Amino acid sequence: MADVATPLAGTELDHELERMLAIERFDPPDGFREKALVSDPAVYERAERDPEGWWAEQARALDWAEPWTQVLDWENAPFAKWFVGGRLNACANCLDRHVEAGLGDRVAYHWYGEEGEQRDISYAELLAETKRLANALLDRGIKAGDVVGIYLPMIPEVIVAMLACARIGAPHNVVFGGFSPEAVRERMEFSEARALITVDAARRKGKTAAIKPAVDEVVGGLEHLETVVVVRHTGEQVPMQDGRDVWYDEIVAAADPECPAEPFDAEHPLYVLYTSGSTAKPKGILHTTGGYLTGVACTHRLVFDLDADHDVYWCAADVGWVTGHSYIVYGPLANATTSVMYEGAPDYPGKDVWWSLVERYGVTVLYTAPTAIRACMKWGAEEPNKHDLSSLRLLGTVGEPINPKAWLWYHRVVGGGRCPIVDTWWQTETGHIMITPLPGIVPTKPGSATRPFPGISADVVNADGEPIDEGTGLLVLRRPWPGMLRTLYRDDERFKEVYWSRFGERTYLVGDAARKDEDGYFWILGRIDDVINVSAHRLSTAEVESAIVSHERVAEAAVVGQPDELTGQAIVAFVTLVGGGDGDDALREDIRGHVAARIGKIARPKRIIWADDLPKTRSGKIMRRLLRDVAEGRELGDVTTLRDPVVMAEISEKVAAGEEEE
Ligand code: WTA
Repeated sequence: MADVATPLAGTELDHELERMLAIERFDPPDGFREKALVSDPAVYERAERDPEGWWAEQARALDWAEPWTQVLDWENAPFAKWFVGGRLNACANCLDRHVEAGLGDRVAYHWYGEEGEQRDISYAELLAETKRLANALLDRGIKAGDVVGIYLPMIPEVIVAMLACARIGAPHNVVFGGFSPEAVRERMEFSEARALITVDAARRKGKTAAIKPAVDEVVGGLEHLETVVVVRHTGEQVPMQDGRDVWYDEIVAAADPECPAEPFDAEHPLYVLYTSGSTAKPKGILHTTGGYLTGVACTHRLVFDLDADHDVYWCAADVGWVTGHSYIVYGPLANATTSVMYEGAPDYPGKDVWWSLVERYGVTVLYTAPTAIRACMKWGAEEPNKHDLSSLRLLGTVGEPINPKAWLWYHRVVGGGRCPIVDTWWQTETGHIMITPLPGIVPTKPGSATRPFPGISADVVNADGEPIDEGTGLLVLRRPWPGMLRTLYRDDERFKEVYWSRFGERTYLVGDAARKDEDGYFWILGRIDDVINVSAHRLSTAEVESAIVSHERVAEAAVVGQPDELTGQAIVAFVTLVGGGDGDDALREDIRGHVAARIGKIARPKRIIWADDLPKTRSGKIMRRLLRDVAEGRELGDVTTLRDPVVMAEISEKVAAGEEEE
């Protein structure tokens, strides 16, 4: 292993990063390759020669109650079936088999609470509690195929809840804790959830926010929702509705401790997870059991070079996003990993809390988003420098393109210059990592996710779908992969139309633009649809617009993304008020609050610009391209197709005059 680099801060660090910007390629560090799980590049050819054989080999790492008869059925494209005829239980693969193999005492999660509480949860404990909750759900009449909603903060119960659902074959529908109760209602309604598992209150930066009463306000009218399970977390007094609401601790304590894990078909739904698309209605991404678990387990093992006996792994995402599903829960547990789980924000109680946790638990592999790295950069290298981070050996990023400066900071300050960085590209839809370096063999270039994972076939194509060897175009995926979404929940037509229509039913349209360089490396450039990526979280412009327009004073709104140093992109809203004219700052705040209540705080516009009218084509379509030009302070593009060019001139003038606050 290379020497640990001296910690640097301030101008010295700036100079070093400046110098490092000239380095285009980073080879796997000395000593890493020799010890890596994958040290022979032949793995790529092997998978390419026989992709189904490669995936079958990966699937064999799981426990199957019944073997499959066919690896892939792609006859009915774009509806794929993987491991046809195979049967397994996802929960048993994550827990029972490890306990049976004598790993019951191994810590599954080192949980660390906001106020410094610590809980080490072993595989045996996790299994015992999961079985009880599974029984309690069965007792409440939940059966295989019924959707169960989960709206919980980052506490161990969220893992138990997901696994208990998986155990009984009830697909879970997790809603990110930062989303509003209104977003929960909508997702429960779309998926016809029969139960919802939530919490009395959540903690955020030393404050307590009541959750259960807020949920009560919106879920009352849901006809399918029969049970609300409430986790006692802060001990807040909350109203409980007789017959519908039950306390988590009480039903778990009363439940039978034995609960056999019934095997399900490989294509049995494991979960539905809503994500943003081009329209205001979120898309319910459906993942199934065998292929998904195969994909997350093998990518987790190979991309993070996992040594489950020694590594302490930390994916610092929220379980409410796909990153949490795949790389906090299913991938790590399938591989018997010891993980760290932190309840709070990265700057509470101090801006060094992450680094104190790395030191406390001896974290070896850290996986986070570029936006978090940029925030840490802003807080200064002094924070990580306060702690011994020498246990780290591998770093990962996900969720948005990483700018080279942040990459280098991560590499130098956090990784001490000795840790490879895996920049992993994937989506809620893909289920698992798709484009990424394998850390022992693939040289990295800051800002590039490098090359497709073995067995994955990705291409950059032009508008006609022809592959581009070198240059910029649309990212597509050619071949089915085991963790791919199977459909949009109860909306096969939209599934076909969104992903499989532009270039035929055998080419998956990703929705990202990408560049392929002279070495065949992929550089992801960003979305081509109306999706904004704020702090590595996907938001739909249409969804934010419809939230703004539902404010009583608003007549019309258009939302665009603008580059933001911290959050990657930030939301800018152009708002026309009822009766025209400009609003004041109080109204801006009111609209922001309104959006927070409808979707969640993350969707609040950073800027609100009043506009008497919005730029539209003659057919009435809002020209967001022009609004983006204005928001970014660029020269206006072609305005000749506008119905009324004066509209744009007025908006530009207003923005130039700085008539809105940040
Ligand atoms: C973006 C998150 C650049 C991309 C796992 C994609 C990335 C969307 C990267 C999916 C990366 C994700 N480099 N861009 N390494 N990873 N993206 O569904 O635009 O929340 O389409 O899944 O995030 O976001 P989602």
